[in-house]
Amino acid sequence: MKGIILHGGHGTRLRPLTHTGPKQLLPIANKPMSEYCLESLRDAGITDIVIIIGGIGSNKVEEYYGDGKDFGVKLSYIQQDSPKGIAHAVRLCKTFVGKEKFVVFLGDNIIQKNIHEYADDFKNSNNDASILLCEVDNPSQFGIAEIENEKIVKLVEKPKTPKTNLAVTGIYFLTPIIFDLIDILKPSWRNEYEIVDALQMLLDANKKIRYYVITDFWKDTGTPGDILQANKIILEKMETYFNGTKEEDVTIQGNVMIGEGTIIKNHSKIIGPVIIGKNCLIDDNVYIGPNTSIGDNSEISTCHIENSIIMSNCKINCNVKIKHSIIASHSKISKHNNEQDEKIFLLGEGTKITL
Ligand code: DAU
Repeated sequence: MKGIILHGGHGTRLRPLTHTGPKQLLPIANKPMSEYCLESLRDAGITDIVIIIGGIGSNKVEEYYGDGKDFGVKLSYIQQDSPKGIAHAVRLCKTFVGKEKFVVFLGDNIIQKNIHEYADDFKNSNNDASILLCEVDNPSQFGIAEIENEKIVKLVEKPKTPKTNLAVTGIYFLTPIIFDLIDILKPSWRNEYEIVDALQMLLDANKKIRYYVITDFWKDTGTPGDILQANKIILEKMETYFNGTKEEDVTIQGNVMIGEGTIIKNHSKIIGPVIIGKNCLIDDNVYIGPNTSIGDNSEISTCHIENSIIMSNCKINCNVKIKHSIIASHSKISKHNNEQDEKIFLLGEGTKITL
């Protein structure tokens, strides 16, 4: 079976974080979110993978993953000129797929469970497609499946009045039949070629779609809150390691991962789950955690950071409590030594600040 990872789109709901690169490269526990997709495919034995790229900073995807050798897979790339929909992106892969069955993974979906058994079932079945469904609280934000007598009878993209709360997750097991249907697909109300509509056409043609309802953690990381929640869950299940150095009077509790070359100074407290990358400096009296990731080469002084993602090469030196925040790489937050309570800002377009 072959694999496809969707790495295009605009990532508008994550601006300003997506002004300089694709959302799927935003880190969760210090690793791009799409790397989790790649690992899911690889761990299911799918190593011939194409990545659909497009939009701002799509060159960064190729720079990061290269030919895939370092990740144990063989990668190629296809450029999508504009985000015309998931089905449109899939159609671009017809030649790559050939006559094989294949798995499409949306690069912003994170799933905890190994997809190995679903991939094997699909490979050995005569099903025309297979999808994973998951119960959600906000069904009008997803593709939704209606089930009768254990069979899917209808699939609707983001229904205004959903009949169920069973969301179609962004992991699709497909056969090349789908390409013929995408060729005759009409754009939806949001002017996209919807994969859910193509799957509905499969149902209309009496083809077999198998489904599984998953109960493990699955997240479509569309908003900052989703990213922070995914970060927390991934950190919770990581195995503790300590490859840095610490001074004597440091408190480290819970699931904490510290990278090589990182120094933690006296009176600092790291309360897991927390990951701190390589070559960071955690100065005296810093409090970090829980549910926090700090990227490589960052320096943190005199502050309290909780439930946040601080990316690489940041410098934070201020007497404040930072909570529920995502701070992109090379950002700087510093103290201003004046009598008045003045703040100085140099902010990019679409920045959000809560004071
Ligand atoms: O996450 C599951 C949901 O994903 C499904 O329940 C929906 O049926 C499905 O349409 C999709 O909904 P979203 O509105 O969340 O899709 P989004 O536009 O965020 O795109 C999903 C991923 O695919 C994202 O990583 C960007 C990428 N993409 C998207 C489009 C529209 C592309 O690479 N090219 C595209 O043209």
